[in-house]
Amino acid sequence: MSETVDISRVETLLSQTFVRDVEWHAELASTNDRALELCASGAIETPHLVVADRQTAGRGRGANAWWSGPGALTFSLIIATEQVEVPPVRWPQVSLTTGLAVCEAVSSLLPTAEVSLKWPNDVHLHRRKVCGILVEVPGSRRGTLVLGIGINVNNLIADAPAELRETAISLADAAGVRLDRPALLTRVLQQIERELAHLAQGNPELAERWQALCCLRGRHVRLVAGEREHAGRCHGIDSEGALVIETEAGRQPFFGGVIAAF
Ligand code: BTN
Repeated sequence: MSETVDISRVETLLSQTFVRDVEWHAELASTNDRALELCASGAIETPHLVVADRQTAGRGRGANAWWSGPGALTFSLIIATEQVEVPPVRWPQVSLTTGLAVCEAVSSLLPTAEVSLKWPNDVHLHRRKVCGILVEVPGSRRGTLVLGIGINVNNLIADAPAELRETAISLADAAGVRLDRPALLTRVLQQIERELAHLAQGNPELAERWQALCCLRGRHVRLVAGEREHAGRCHGIDSEGALVIETEAGRQPFFGGVIAAF
């Protein structure tokens, strides 16, 4: 199954979103790698979008790979934080804010679907992972962030590697029909612009919304942070973007780590 994207779709992206330049590739190893290369190479207009119809070496957090079967939506957005007025103190919340934007875009397409945020940077649909987000800070370009986003859209999970079949889902799996990837991309980018503006303003509503969408809240979780493991009932995500867990040592906020079980 292959989809081609005509030039008018790119023009739509440029006219309907805050993106100033677009590269749309049939195939790349990883859109984040390409974005990091572009950052190192110098002159780019931001926000700059790199999209690939197919990734051959998509990367997830840590050493994880990202499966992007045919029909997936994989892209990286290069943003200059000064341009969007997000100060460095709020950079740790960019990933959650991006997740919120994806949740809203997905909900607008599938209004009755159960969409949630799985801290720190996944979006779930019907309690299965539909989107992963990898935010990277290019060493070569000060004040710049690369937001790497992979959404399972028209790639069917029946075709995914066996280890993903119990935990992942695509929008087409949930909707039972194929969806318009460029239209979804436009929507996600519009939402990212809107949510980054809220982050820039320090709008407290942002934290209320990521707390409301947190799928770990009220559940027993195990978090691995470095060498240590912390377990307990989760109280959701606080206003700083930390996951709050009632551990044996009391209620503690965690700013990083991997959820091992929930
Ligand atoms: C995760 O779930 O661990 C994050 C996955 C991020 C995947 C996206 S796909 C587009 C961009 N390019 C990559 O190589 N990774 C991100």
